[in-house]
Amino acid sequence: FLEVKSLYRNSDEYLGKSVSVAGWIRTSRISKSFGFIELNDGSFFKNLQIVVDENKIDNFAEISKLPISSSLLIEGELVKVDNAKNPIEIHATKVVVEGESDSSYPLQKKKHTFEYLRTIAHLRPRSNTFSAVFRVRSVVAYAIHKFFQERNFVYAHTPIITGSDAEGAGEMFRITTLDMTNPPLNEDGSIDFSQDFFGKEANLTVSGQLNGEIMALAFRNIYTFGPTFRAENSYTARHASEFWMVEPEISFADLEDNMELAEDLIKYIINFVLENCPEEMAFFNSFIDKGLLDRLDNIVSSDFVRITYTEAIDLLLKSDHTFEYPVEWGCDLQTEHERYITEQIYNAPVFVTDYPKDIKAFYMRANDDGKTVRAMDLLVPGVGEIIGGSQREERYEVLMDRIKEMGLKEEDYWWYLELRKFGTATHSGFGLGFERIIMYLTGVSNIRDVIPFPRTPKNAEF
Ligand code: 4AD
Ligand code: MG
Repeated sequence: FLEVKSLYRNSDEYLGKSVSVAGWIRTSRISKSFGFIELNDGSFFKNLQIVVDENKIDNFAEISKLPISSSLLIEGELVKVDNAKNPIEIHATKVVVEGESDSSYPLQKKKHTFEYLRTIAHLRPRSNTFSAVFRVRSVVAYAIHKFFQERNFVYAHTPIITGSDAEGAGEMFRITTLDMTNPPLNEDGSIDFSQDFFGKEANLTVSGQLNGEIMALAFRNIYTFGPTFRAENSYTARHASEFWMVEPEISFADLEDNMELAEDLIKYIINFVLENCPEEMAFFNSFIDKGLLDRLDNIVSSDFVRITYTEAIDLLLKSDHTFEYPVEWGCDLQTEHERYITEQIYNAPVFVTDYPKDIKAFYMRANDDGKTVRAMDLLVPGVGEIIGGSQREERYEVLMDRIKEMGLKEEDYWWYLELRKFGTATHSGFGLGFERIIMYLTGVSNIRDVIPFPRTPKNAEF
């Protein structure tokens, strides 16, 4: 069977010839002796029109009664037509019904809400929107690997099961091998979870960064790309319990180099997707977010804004907008603040740097002012934060003091500290939320709709 994508892309090669395709009926309009089937074979966003004629196939009556979503094997001549929507079609000479669909198939032609489609995650990849979103997701993953591999970065695989809390924020899912019907107990009668992982405490990773730093201090430039888990019980449109993160880590590189890398990566991804998924992107622009293509075009051709946290706070304080969360120096930026800065003030992606140390992780390099750290977040219109990163604290004593000051256990981080003892180097990195960049590229506003099988609190079906 030929792929519908290759029939569209190389139609000249096949015109007038007999071809075979296999796919599912998206719609059909069939009258007494003649009709049209829109077939989707999954290889391409667009459907292929199949013309069925009573005089050309021997099972016309059977075909004309088939419900949507039935799967077919088709043979016929590929014909060019003067129609912008369907420039080619197949005039069927043979149609084999592979699997007749039940007529209760829920994805009929009418428009469904995203909320409803989430309840049928086993069928939603067949809808136009999700077909486009999940294909773009795949293409973006490829673009990310291509970007880093072209720059000679080593793809480092970091563990999912880990004993350390990379963010020091305590938002980890525990894993356990304990027999919970008869668990080991502490003296006070509570369960002794320190025995979790065959006798050692373990969790699902919240970030591959610390392992990434180990690899970067051997290979210079590395990236990770894998699943991460956060046990935040938050029901927002931008947080998932399981999400994918891309974490480059670069040695002999400071925060400026880090931001340059991040900006290059985002622009590369946008260009790659515009070039490789034009049909999907045109669809998003028409049906999800009308200004999408203009915005993306604009972004690849302009420089991202760079401001410090202190400047961002000043801008927010000066604005006449009333925020739900009050703004003052030292507060964490909430989504409403982030979106105000990037959407109302700049209408462009904005790097915010040098956050107060008290709202950032222990590993960020301290600035000389004693109050801020070399952090950077990238905020984009429509989504807010898509990247969080920093220059890392490479000074052994300073890092040790910070770990103690934050109440973290020194012995949990002994190997991380040793990296600063054996040939320390200026190094930096960031984490790009994979789902967040997909939201940004598609205009889809809920993270549940850019993950095939989302894991958010209370949601683990499918
Ligand atoms: O800002 P975060 O927490 O940074 C880190 O984890 C660092 N260790 C990264 C590094 O420097 N190597 O997370 C990075 C990004 C966020 O900017 C956001 O895009 C995404 O990961 N993210 C989430 N995406 C979906 N659901 C969640 N619960 C997320 N938490 C973070
Ligand atoms: Mg962050």
